[in-house]
Amino acid sequence: MGNPIGGHLYMNDIRPKSLKDFVGNIDAIKRVRLLIDAAKIRGEMPPHIAILGPKGRGKTLLAELIASELNAVFYIFNATAFKTPRDIRESFAYISLHEKTVIAIDEAHALNKTTTNTMLSALESKSITWNYEGQLVTEHLIYPHTVILMTTDEYRIFPPLLSRCDKIYLRPYTTDECAKITYGVFGRLGVNCTKEACIMIGRRSGGEARQAVHYARNAYDLATIKGVFKIDENLVKYLFDKILLVDKNGLQSRDIELLGIINKLGTASIGTLASMMDEPINNLKTRENFLIKANMITISSYGRELTKDGKEYVRSLGL
Ligand SMILES: Nc1ncnc2c1ncn2[C@@H]1O[C@H](COP(=O)(O)OP(=O)(O)OP(=O)(O)O)[C@@H](O)[C@H]1O
Ligand SMILES: [Mg+2]
Repeated sequence: MGNPIGGHLYMNDIRPKSLKDFVGNIDAIKRVRLLIDAAKIRGEMPPHIAILGPKGRGKTLLAELIASELNAVFYIFNATAFKTPRDIRESFAYISLHEKTVIAIDEAHALNKTTTNTMLSALESKSITWNYEGQLVTEHLIYPHTVILMTTDEYRIFPPLLSRCDKIYLRPYTTDECAKITYGVFGRLGVNCTKEACIMIGRRSGGEARQAVHYARNAYDLATIKGVFKIDENLVKYLFDKILLVDKNGLQSRDIELLGIINKLGTASIGTLASMMDEPINNLKTRENFLIKANMITISSYGRELTKDGKEYVRSLGL
């Protein structure tokens, strides 16, 4: 059976393909353009870069787009894959066979002490010095490369590593930017949508790009199942009200449960809330950040408490 709304869903198809389609974070993009454009004119590779920001902000996407803008081969490693200096040496020696390479290292804060030192030498020069059976060996890399370190936790990266990179920090997205990200996803999927449908999704995304992408995919799935030709406000409203149970502020049922508990307790520590919600503290912190941004809770020296808006909201729900 065909899909009436058309389109196709492969993860790679819904990611922007060009830097000009990277939505928002204008200041960060201006700095990236400066590094790339100057390097292109000089026929060099740009300096090493650190892309910093919380989960789902577009760090990996930006690294991919930098590589594609430079027409460079793109490699991505998770820092935890580098267990010994030899792992770095082998990866870099292999990679440096390509003329232009961007080597992205995800979760760069997870590099251990010995791999950090080897990485430093790779950032520092066109060679890697590594410890081979007790002897220091230097290996020359044939072509220049740009390393992009990515992390959600800037403060856990070894400072000398970070200081050798141009730092690019990705900020949260506005409601309009989240709507634009949604619009871009529908466009790349090749499906019809209304502006209002994108705005509804943008409003509920809490300033996070990945959340907007998830909701856009959910809307696309619902349109496919319902056999409609266009993603409009009615479809998106149905998605949020009846399926995802996300209210007009972007709050999910578990967020509302959390507000209800804080309301009953007056103030509460994160530990108390984690055990009452039966949820790991880290999860709860993400939820909490969202509720702080939505102006529903604050953190005082006594613990978490509801703001005036939070209290009004809880009252409106009769909790
Ligand atoms: N500025 C943006 N414009 C358009 N799409 C974006 C933007 N930022 C992120 N996205 C989309 O949001 C999703 C998440 O982005 P990405 O995977 O790059 O985040 P990340 O910061 O690397 O997250 P993590 O820390 O979890 O690895 C992707 O589908 C990406 O295409
Ligand atoms: Mg990533």
